[in-house]
Amino acid sequence: MDFEDVYAREHVTRKFLNRKVNEKTIAQIIRAAQNSPSLLNSQPWRAYAVMGDALQDLRKEYEAMVQEGAHAHEDFASMLSLHWDTFPSQNMANLGASQTYFFNNKLELFNDSNNTMFNAPCVIYLTIPKESPAWSVFDLGIFGQSIMLLALNKGLAVMPAHSLVAYPELVRKYAGIPEDESVGMAIGIGYEDKKAEVNDAKFIPKRLPLKSIYKLTK
Ligand SMILES: Cc1cc2nc3c(=O)[nH]c(=O)nc-3n(C[C@H](O)[C@H](O)[C@H](O)COP(=O)(O)O)c2cc1C
Repeated sequence: MDFEDVYAREHVTRKFLNRKVNEKTIAQIIRAAQNSPSLLNSQPWRAYAVMGDALQDLRKEYEAMVQEGAHAHEDFASMLSLHWDTFPSQNMANLGASQTYFFNNKLELFNDSNNTMFNAPCVIYLTIPKESPAWSVFDLGIFGQSIMLLALNKGLAVMPAHSLVAYPELVRKYAGIPEDESVGMAIGIGYEDKKAEVNDAKFIPKRLPLKSIYKLTK
């Protein structure tokens, strides 16, 4: 696929079809994503794919915890400072994904999709060592972006979501992640359910005008 076309497809998918993804394809994607740059080639990332019966069981426990109202406690929330400047906070309040659903009077579509792990047939959990500098978070983000673009190029759809890592102990149990790694992010991968309302293009949040984020000096 032409790179511009791949990039133009980069919007999240909040409901996947039941169709399985090929495990060899996932391994190929991760192998290719290892080409991503990282500080001094530190390659701090690790990727843990969960699918099939293991994901079914994980999802069951996840949904039960959501139903109980279990408090989300992502590893990054304890590992990193989460004090946000007003600039991103205001963007979330004005242009955030949940706002877009809210203003269309469809917030329940957003919540239901998150609460059911987007029906993803495969989730890739991404970790870095707990003892990491901020650079490693940057490296993990690049690695995640590589995974998503490579997946889109293969006709797959992607869903990066911190809600997928809300209960790290569950992820550790099913993915076999050691205690000294921080479960940073997760990406759901599969085939888009094009009929699902939650995936409608009207829910893609707008971006800021270029001039508010870009400045050229010469
Ligand atoms: C780090 C990160 C965490 C995210 N977490 C969630 C999430 O928990 N739930 C969700 O529905 N979307 C989540 N998203 C998706 C964003 O809401 C989405 O990318 C953004 O609103 C822009 O929409 P678009 O990607 O469709 O253009 C996350 C995206 C990123 C990069």
